[in-house]
Amino acid sequence: MEFELKAVLKCSSSLSGAASPSEITEFVTYCNADLLKRGAPPGCGAEIAGWNVAEDKIELKIVSDRFVRAHDALLRLKKELGKLLGKHRIGIRGVEIEDYKIALDWEAEEGLKIRKLPFVREIKQEEGRLELLLDVDESMLDKRIPDRLIRLLEDKRDAVRWKGKSEHWELLFESEQRQFHFDKDPTEEMLKRGWLQHAAGRGQYVYGPQITKIFRAFEKILLDELCTPLGYKEMIFPKFVAWDVWKKSGHAKGIYPEAYYVCTPKTRDPEYWEDVMDYFKVTNEVPVDMIMGKIENVGGMCYAQCPPFWVFLQGKIMPDEILPIMVFDRSGTSHRYESGGLHGIERLDEFHRVEILWMGTKQQAIEHSKVLQEKYRHIFNDILDIAWREAWVTPWFMAQEGKAGLAEIKEAGTIDYEAVLPYSGKWLEFQNVSVNGDKYPKGFSVKLQSGEDLWSGCSGVGLERWAAVFLAQKGLDAENWPEKFRSVVGELPEVFRFL
Ligand code: SER
Ligand code: ZN
Repeated sequence: MEFELKAVLKCSSSLSGAASPSEITEFVTYCNADLLKRGAPPGCGAEIAGWNVAEDKIELKIVSDRFVRAHDALLRLKKELGKLLGKHRIGIRGVEIEDYKIALDWEAEEGLKIRKLPFVREIKQEEGRLELLLDVDESMLDKRIPDRLIRLLEDKRDAVRWKGKSEHWELLFESEQRQFHFDKDPTEEMLKRGWLQHAAGRGQYVYGPQITKIFRAFEKILLDELCTPLGYKEMIFPKFVAWDVWKKSGHAKGIYPEAYYVCTPKTRDPEYWEDVMDYFKVTNEVPVDMIMGKIENVGGMCYAQCPPFWVFLQGKIMPDEILPIMVFDRSGTSHRYESGGLHGIERLDEFHRVEILWMGTKQQAIEHSKVLQEKYRHIFNDILDIAWREAWVTPWFMAQEGKAGLAEIKEAGTIDYEAVLPYSGKWLEFQNVSVNGDKYPKGFSVKLQSGEDLWSGCSGVGLERWAAVFLAQKGLDAENWPEKFRSVVGELPEVFRFL
């Protein structure tokens, strides 16, 4: 890694009278011999490769390796020089970055093209080398933008490397074979029977009384068999998610292609909106382009369900004796832009999920995940009687940040629950159980009184996914359903008839 930085320090008055040239020369010598080498191995660090004093300006050229990066060197030097000039009652008014070039050793990874980067004016890619010409000012150096750019490039390279390998997937458990009673796509069959209808939005359904009753039966089973006996308490998590939440949860790193964006009007003054109203009144068309200019994006719709919960604990310290804490939310929809991937109730843009969330010490969080796994096994084996399996996969909290691969850690991570769909032979993920480590407490600054790390976990139970799996294996006729499930769901209501 090579850094080459040209900067101009602007001072409060001319340097010619006050600080003598020999004093500046001495300072440069001191920088090159000591100040800009501190913390670097022998022979490494940064160096002032050229300098010039003109009136009230000091022009500098700093070169470095990766040990004391040139921008760090500049900030370090500015501080020391400020002290020196201060003796002559001269201050440093500002720093102008004329040019900043960073060159990296770069073996072009197959399929990775770096075309554009924020705060980079020009990118040159040659054999084994990547050169960036930065477009930054001093405040961006303060914010460590150059370091973050380098990190971003490394992340991009890692992501491509991971893509080459297959997604991490490791079988943990597989249930016994079951008798299947159906070989069709249950969504098609439900549409035929009028159990649901496509809604006006993409990947969205209006659920009729029958399938709704099935969803509620699933919820009841989950509550009776798992939430209530384990001491879970219900909460209501927000379903609009402000950017501030996604910044802290990491979703702001990668959610963009899948988010449902939420906007507010720039003003609620009806006069501001009159042209839009008038346009609709005369054309009967909603002028979406006109609206776009009058609204402001403030976040998105619920995506992962648990992140906005953490605002409840943000910045708080809790006594250890109230742990473990178990809560759940079933207060609304989740939204993901699924693009081409839509398929019946298996893959939707709008879906319903019970989000189960627990927290405790590291040991409590891991232990609780095992208890949940036991409960789920019981539900799938003894009540729903389905064929299913558990797999250790890329943790959802990494996948949703756009990171591939397996977390190095084995204690934190995600177990996906999958079931086979007899009509296609494919396996469908229908829920997960994850230990999320200290990621959320750290991200939202939640602490324990003892100072021990707070850990958390979550498990998302997709109602549509449970239904997709159960109905695909058992069919829509209640006589083929396991007795225990029938006793929970009861008679399915017949309400509508169409002519
Ligand atoms: N929050 C987790 C996820 O989005 C569990 O629901 O996968
Ligand atoms: Zn979650």
